[in-house]
Amino acid sequence: MGEKDVMLSEPPAAVEGRLPDPDHRPWPWWPPAPARKEMASGAGNIDSTQLDVRHGVVLYLDDISVSFDGFKALNKLSLSIDAGELRCVIGPNGAGKTTMMDVITGKTRPDAGKAFFGTTIDLTKLTEPQIAHAGIGRKFQKPTIFEHHTAFENLELSMKADKRVRKTLFAKLSPEERDRIATTLAQIRLDDSADRPAGLLSHGQKQWLEIGMLLMQEPKLLLLDEPVAGMSDEETERTAELFLTLAGTHSLVVVEHDMSFIARIARKVTVLHEGSVLAEGTLDTVQNDPRVIEVYLGR
Ligand SMILES: Nc1ncnc2c1ncn2[C@@H]1O[C@H](COP(=O)(O)OP(=O)(O)O)[C@@H](O)[C@H]1O
Ligand SMILES: [Mg+2]
Repeated sequence: MGEKDVMLSEPPAAVEGRLPDPDHRPWPWWPPAPARKEMASGAGNIDSTQLDVRHGVVLYLDDISVSFDGFKALNKLSLSIDAGELRCVIGPNGAGKTTMMDVITGKTRPDAGKAFFGTTIDLTKLTEPQIAHAGIGRKFQKPTIFEHHTAFENLELSMKADKRVRKTLFAKLSPEERDRIATTLAQIRLDDSADRPAGLLSHGQKQWLEIGMLLMQEPKLLLLDEPVAGMSDEETERTAELFLTLAGTHSLVVVEHDMSFIARIARKVTVLHEGSVLAEGTLDTVQNDPRVIEVYLGR
């Protein structure tokens, strides 16, 4: 039985990211301690080649609940994202949007419910690094770029930090790798700023650079939490274009308050409220839904 099968079966005590007592082997096939240590470190095991989207679904959340001191941040949240879909998630402050992303990326363990990446990868059994390695990339609001390195070098570092690429930081780039970086720079519209220190880029350019760094790791699912906050109108428009070109080859979940941005990219829109789905459909449908109007305007 391969490592994949082991991780996808029911690990008895992999609760809260903890793995069982090193000497305890509940089942004969349970891997010995050194192998489990490697799993826990996120090194190896599941990568995006194991993502099974044959049923067309890339992310499946079912009845997810998360409580903080008795307060239900997520309350039986169920949601399913198709492969290649660009999904917008909106909802008032405190609706649970960021908590939902925390659950998907393994930062927060749900108290109850299922979370699957494709049909086989159980996200509730994996650590944060394992989930990233499996092919889920998350963009945080504050970019985590290296300010003293150029835009090109930031992408280079991100590629070399990719555990699937067995490269040291000092290895010389191959022509193919240079091409990949150049393609990504063009995609994020930084080809003219390749040699600028990242610290000198505009706010919007820094955000794109971080998206580029995510793209270097070839994620299958991208989670973007308020990606256009603080951007100029022009940067916002260019971000919309970028997301529209990424959809199809990637699946995207975009949380944003900027409704003109949402209107520009919207396909299917999910409205969260008090930790669960209030409405789902086209932007027009949800905007005309009396319950949505009540939540946004009724207080
Ligand atoms: N770590 C935490 N501890 C306690 N409460 C939290 C924590 N994270 C989120 N919450 C609460 O959960 C609710 C949902 O938060 P959040 O997911 O950030 O909402 P949104 O992103 O939709 O604005 C909020 O009421 C928030 O205060
Ligand atoms: Mg939030």
